[in-house]
Amino acid sequence: MTLTNEVQTLREKRLPVRLHLGCGPNLFEGWINIDGDYCAGQPGVTIHNLTDTYPIPDNSVDEILSVHVIEHIMPDKVPLMLKEWHRIIKPGGFVATEWPDLLKMCKFIVDDPSRLYSDNRKILKQGIAGIFGNIARYQDVAMMHKWGYSADSLSKILKDSGFSKTVTEPNKYPKTGMCSRVVAYK
Ligand SMILES: C[S@@+](CC[C@H](N)C(=O)[O-])C[C@H]1O[C@@H](n2cnc3c(N)ncnc32)[C@H](O)[C@@H]1O
Repeated sequence: MTLTNEVQTLREKRLPVRLHLGCGPNLFEGWINIDGDYCAGQPGVTIHNLTDTYPIPDNSVDEILSVHVIEHIMPDKVPLMLKEWHRIIKPGGFVATEWPDLLKMCKFIVDDPSRLYSDNRKILKQGIAGIFGNIARYQDVAMMHKWGYSADSLSKILKDSGFSKTVTEPNKYPKTGMCSRVVAYK
């Protein structure tokens, strides 16, 4: 089913429309799980490039979730993508974004610069590999990190894209201690 049809079907059944963007292998029940060509052929995933226009009416989505995805998007594409998210979200709806926080990872490294060349994978993941992505393991360009955000910098871009309020919350899907979560309301 296409993204357009999936949204239309949920709306006709008066069910919440919830988009899980950049889902990867993590399929959530009750959500439309969306990813790019990297996940083509993966059952249960609706393929859509997140930086393309969404074939969805204005004010039609209740909730958007993206976990460890924003850092994979080219920074010049982010403002337009967030404007699209704002367009499709219903008034009162919200967008929750979780990602490895650049400021936390930089502080982690500055606190002990030997963490840059540690043999410990967990330490690398909280620092240098968290910043650039695990390039040795995931060589597809979709999996490389293109930019970095702090809670304040992402909140500013979300507000500049039209969201009325942002709240920084504890992570619901933490992968390391360096993650942040910002929820933006329309
Ligand atoms: C690090 S994975 C995160 C997967 C999952 N959200 C998780 O928490 O494990 C990043 C995901 O974003 C997807 N992605 C990156 N750029 C994308 C784009 N332009 N359009 C759609 N998906 C994209 C990748 O294909 C990948 O599945």
